[in-house]
Amino acid sequence: MKRVLLIIGGGIAAYKTLELIRILRKRDLEVRCILTRAGKEFVTPLSVASLTSDKVYEDLFSLTDEAEMGHIELSREADLLVVAPATADLLAKMANGAANDLASTALLATDKPILAAPAMNVRMWLHAATQRNLSRLKADGVSFVGPGDGEMACGEYGPGRMAEPTEIADAIASMLGGTTVQKPLAGRRVIVTSGPTVEPIDPVRFLSNRSSGKQGHAIAAAAAAAGADVVLVSGPVSIPDPAGVRTLHVETAVQMLAAVEAALPSDIAVFSAAVADWRVEPAWQKIKKGKSGAPALALIENPDILASISRHPRRPRLVIGFAAETEEMLAHARQKLERKGCDMIVANDVGGEAGVMGGERNTVHLVTRDGVEDWPTLDKTEVAHRLVERLAALLGAPA
Ligand code: C5P
Repeated sequence: MKRVLLIIGGGIAAYKTLELIRILRKRDLEVRCILTRAGKEFVTPLSVASLTSDKVYEDLFSLTDEAEMGHIELSREADLLVVAPATADLLAKMANGAANDLASTALLATDKPILAAPAMNVRMWLHAATQRNLSRLKADGVSFVGPGDGEMACGEYGPGRMAEPTEIADAIASMLGGTTVQKPLAGRRVIVTSGPTVEPIDPVRFLSNRSSGKQGHAIAAAAAAAGADVVLVSGPVSIPDPAGVRTLHVETAVQMLAAVEAALPSDIAVFSAAVADWRVEPAWQKIKKGKSGAPALALIENPDILASISRHPRRPRLVIGFAAETEEMLAHARQKLERKGCDMIVANDVGGEAGVMGGERNTVHLVTRDGVEDWPTLDKTEVAHRLVERLAALLGAPA
């Protein structure tokens, strides 16, 4: 069993590390924790100890701890050190080799790989000092996961939000070589579409939509973490390609269909892209404003990728569609399941206040021929994980 030494720093995101511990234990990893003095202001030693089934280490000069398990021993017996949340202060200490408490001393005393999940206020993150520390730590070989963009506890918006527990757990799995982690999709091929498509009107204008690609990219990353060989076909998005995934970049629906067909055969296909329903015959030159009024756009229907692949001679065993609806969500999802011939529709409400498009969280309902399953509102990474777990179970053990 592999061992993780988790150092919990003092940030509001510390509460998320409790969930991280739970996930790591579920994945059969042993977790031992150091809680910094500031970390203790956010989570209690008792809750950490209950989740790790181990004592929590807090004090550098504890006579009993040193006798049982010295600070050098703590980092020596771990396979990986994880700092979450990695506060600005902890990063500064690490970058400078400070060793004035148990956490910083363990980090300096180790020759094991270190993964840090930074979490702090946007301005602190963007500050030249933090960025300087970050570059130095990267040069020293420290790995990072996150931070993501999002709304912060301090009311500001921007980078600095700690990565979600599932993302951190995946980064840990890949750093540990994945040997201890269950790989329910090992040997399987998965195709995922993500993002919007962009349909040109003329050389400078286009038709598109507000899809961010976050949900599709998270599904591709989760499938890769589950051991699958993943091809992600993505329209233009501003988020990075997920690690460990072959990403093909396309613009139009026609290109997306061609890329998906070229990626067949596959065991599973998840169509989470927001494909533009229509395109136009693009003009070669920029359309000029004329005296005769606004030009008419003749819309041409795009190919339906989900429906084509569901009826394809080389149809994947599981074909999953998404339904972004603003009204009568479930009725529409059921009709879509039949019309498109897929095995499952993941329905979500993208109407006005839900803020799904571009947001971090999603409320989905799994619609199959057997019925509907409502899921609670979850982070998109967590939706991705649960969905991948479900798809692996539906597919059964590899042949
Ligand atoms: O019909 P609607 O666009 O609501 O269907 C949504 C589902 O169909 C999504 O899974 C989407 O990726 C897929 N789709 C597609 N090709 C299209 C339109 C939608 O694959 N042209």
